[in-house]
Amino acid sequence: MASTRVLTGITTSGTPHLGNYVGAIRPAVAASRRADVESFYFLADYHALIKVSEPARVQRSTLEIAAAWLACGLDPASVWFYRQSDIPEIPELTWLLTCVAGKGILNRAHAYKAAVDRNRTDNQDDDAGISAGLFMYPVLMAADILLFDANQVPVGRDQVQHIEMARDFGQRFNHLYGSDFFVLPEAVIEEQVATLPGLDGRKMSKSYDNTIPLFAPREQLRKLIFSIVTDSRAPGEPKDTENSALFQLYQAFASADETVAMRRAFADGIAWGEAKQALFERIDAEVAPLRERYDALIADPAAIERQLRDGAARLRERYAMPRLRVLREAVGLRDLAAGASTEKRAKAKPGAALPTFKQYREADGRFYFKLVDGDRVLLQSGGFESPKDAGARIGTIRRNGFAGPDDAVALGEGVDMEAVREALAALQAADAEKA
Ligand code: TRP
Repeated sequence: MASTRVLTGITTSGTPHLGNYVGAIRPAVAASRRADVESFYFLADYHALIKVSEPARVQRSTLEIAAAWLACGLDPASVWFYRQSDIPEIPELTWLLTCVAGKGILNRAHAYKAAVDRNRTDNQDDDAGISAGLFMYPVLMAADILLFDANQVPVGRDQVQHIEMARDFGQRFNHLYGSDFFVLPEAVIEEQVATLPGLDGRKMSKSYDNTIPLFAPREQLRKLIFSIVTDSRAPGEPKDTENSALFQLYQAFASADETVAMRRAFADGIAWGEAKQALFERIDAEVAPLRERYDALIADPAAIERQLRDGAARLRERYAMPRLRVLREAVGLRDLAAGASTEKRAKAKPGAALPTFKQYREADGRFYFKLVDGDRVLLQSGGFESPKDAGARIGTIRRNGFAGPDDAVALGEGVDMEAVREALAALQAADAEKA
């Protein structure tokens, strides 16, 4: 598969509207067709629980958003398409990251701070009405991203801070456990994607209650478009395109030529009713075929359910489960019967990763030692008369280094002197630190 991984999460807390379509769905589906990226699209239903406590709404929104993305051309055969709550490794990783995430960093998250500020304005306790879920939101999001080593995350400005936090948590984990477990993601800010105005001219947003549902039936779409707020200029009077929600909506759906023509029509004093009719026809021309597919998809929720489960099952098998096996091992959630000195141990925390001398007695009654680094035997001694003799030789090697194989001590199989020198240098550095 391609090398760059691009990951997009959609919180399942509403009904897709034209603003989502123009700002997110349409560009993302276009990007998903690129051959040089491996794309991940998922329904962030755990995130939805932070905002929505009506179970039926969470379910309905998840269905609608899944159907919308599929209707708009997302192809589950060529991208990863899944539901967050079908991947138990996500909450599991969330906990591992929670344990390295700085609380102070979370305190500075915009969404949390805004909630605290509102409480202060209202003379309430700082954290009144704020759930730990809202507070932990960035950690869950970091798990979404880090689990799959996403390189790029396309987001709006409001989400950039969350990507920076994901980088921070990933970096801390890497540092603490001594290896490059996680790729650090980058935010890709979509500057060129215009935000669409809503019915009242403000940004189209669920929170302003000014949205046009993407898949409103044709007649409802017409009604909504005719309810867009305009100024009171009469037919024949030139109209302003700059501050016209109607014009901006038109532009988001029209070709460059059509936009030029509409600009001229505005200057020529097109009647608002006529402009609205043109806008309606333009949007409907693009949306109608999608709506037809959407209606068919939503009529068969079981088929969508199967697709989502299938996507999640394949993704877990391919990435999530093997990934968690490595991470659990790294933090010490291990099989108690397995040896402690595994390869991964060697990669673990500086200190835990040090090579060690091991002394033991063989069946011949003599005393031996070896220098091991993880699974690897660097030095192997012959038999000594007493443990004291063996220990004395270890002491000399630790202090003075190892000059080369002799009668009593040999190099391990396939080991060169350089590896021994490195191991001893690491031991000496650790000793010096202790002293
Ligand atoms: N927080 C994102 C939003 O509200 C949704 C989301 C959840 C997300 N997890 C993600 C986006 C991971 C990108 C990557 O829009």
